[in-house]
Amino acid sequence: MDNFTLRPATETEFSQIQDLIRLVGINPTGLDWKRFIVIVNAEGGVLACGQIKPHGQEVRELASIAVTPEMQGRGLARRIIEHLLSSSPRPLHLMCRSGMGALYEKFGFRAIAYEEMPKYFQRMSKLAGLASILMHSGDSLLVMKLE
Ligand SMILES: CC(C)(COP(=O)(O)OP(=O)(O)OC[C@H]1O[C@@H](n2cnc3c(N)ncnc32)[C@H](O)[C@@H]1OP(=O)(O)O)[C@@H](O)C(=O)NCCC(=O)NCCS
Repeated sequence: MDNFTLRPATETEFSQIQDLIRLVGINPTGLDWKRFIVIVNAEGGVLACGQIKPHGQEVRELASIAVTPEMQGRGLARRIIEHLLSSSPRPLHLMCRSGMGALYEKFGFRAIAYEEMPKYFQRMSKLAGLASILMHSGDSLLVMKLE
């Protein structure tokens, strides 16, 4: 069994979290270390992270799910996601590239239409649509919800 620990992040791990988010190329904004859960190895290296990001009082986002490339495919994201889901009220939303939808469906999330999205996600969805047109990218943004 690997000697990995899942626990809340500490302030000293913030730069490792930022580095991991940059390395895997996901949204680098809204990274408050106090909200993060990490999986660390015996040497204190951050191998995986994730957070629940609030948008006002009512809206919460499962966000910043990231695993170091060399540790992917070993169930670390599942541990982070299950832990965050076990401690968060519903509903919970997330945004991801359309290709990642299958991962989150495993945890009960379903894609929602624009009309069903809270205002924050409607704004992000419009911005992503515009960026995708400007960059000629075929990848679209999926907004998903867990009731
Ligand atoms: C996506 C990512 C977080 C998955 O981490 P991971 O530790 O490799 O995932 P796990 O091994 O815990 O896999 C959990 C489940 O999701 C599935 N899964 C993993 N990656 C997937 C993908 N890209 N698409 C669909 N399903 C996927 C696995 O098959 C597994 O299913 P199972 O438990 O039923 O066997 C990781 O690859 C990563 O950091 N990618 C770059 C950053 C990123 O895209 N983050 C998501 C932002 S929305």
